[in-house]
Amino acid sequence: MAETPSFSTLALFRIDGDVALITGGGGGLGRIASLALAEAGAHVCVADIDADAAQAVVGEITAAGGGGDAWTLDVMDNDRIVAVIGEIAARHGRIDVLVNNAGTARREPTADMTLEVWNLIMQMNQTQIFVCSREAGRHMIRQGSGRIINIASIMGLVGGGFYPNFPYHATKGAVVNMTRALAAEWASHGIRVNAIAPTFVVTDLTAKVRAEPEKMRIIEDRTPMGRFAQPEEMAGGILYLASPASAMVTGHTLVIDGGWTAI
Ligand SMILES: NC(=O)c1ccc[n+]([C@@H]2O[C@H](COP(=O)([O-])OP(=O)(O)OC[C@H]3O[C@@H](n4cnc5c(N)ncnc54)[C@H](O)[C@@H]3O)[C@@H](O)[C@H]2O)c1
Repeated sequence: MAETPSFSTLALFRIDGDVALITGGGGGLGRIASLALAEAGAHVCVADIDADAAQAVVGEITAAGGGGDAWTLDVMDNDRIVAVIGEIAARHGRIDVLVNNAGTARREPTADMTLEVWNLIMQMNQTQIFVCSREAGRHMIRQGSGRIINIASIMGLVGGGFYPNFPYHATKGAVVNMTRALAAEWASHGIRVNAIAPTFVVTDLTAKVRAEPEKMRIIEDRTPMGRFAQPEEMAGGILYLASPASAMVTGHTLVIDGGWTAI
């Protein structure tokens, strides 16, 4: 009987020498993605609107023996995205991993929502992912390899219901299908495109919700595992999708939700 040649499973999670770019890498899930990819061997470009926060995460990376550099980037500014990705490629010669993490929510009733707010969420959660992916993707196509990881949400898979969040659902649902469409378009270039869909995570983004005990109770009761996720609980999924461990996976959205979408 043919045997599988011996190999190291854990080695499949190493990404030594890769150059990774994380948007919104200065805090929350982006910080965890930055630390995880750096620990696995990547040189991490931490890009954030908050220059000090990005620099602090690079400090954590280097203190742990990894490599990284900080970039000031507002993903609302398409020209700045083009400039920063161009500079990263020029400095490092390549871009292997892009984590499209920066995103936001505006929880307000749709009947009262202005077009300005709608357009803001479209740019922040959807359009800039196109711009970042296009710019990094050009380098990945030239290299013949790359991985893009989009941070979607369980709210891209369900319609919510307990507070109004219409543009968030719209954009995160779009991110799930942008992931599929770009995976299909760029598979022949050796580029894999995947997403994670987290449940409620303990970050600044959920601070207001977590300050409301009634909302907390509803969310915890609605979650089979009965709690919010910690940012660190996203690290394994992000590294899996960024590494050779997921070599045959593309177009997939990995749900990390304590069972929210299982019921
Ligand atoms: N926290 C959750 O419960 C949760 C759940 C599902 C999905 N997500 C998604 O995860 C991603 C990260 O969310 P988070 O909870 O870590 O957010 P966060 O608000 O805690 O952190 C966001 C980071 O992005 C930076 N940032 C803000 N505006 C920016 C801009 N215009 N340009 C560049 N950087 C900017 C901030 O400075 C901060 O470092 C988002 O796409 C969010 O939709 C979060």
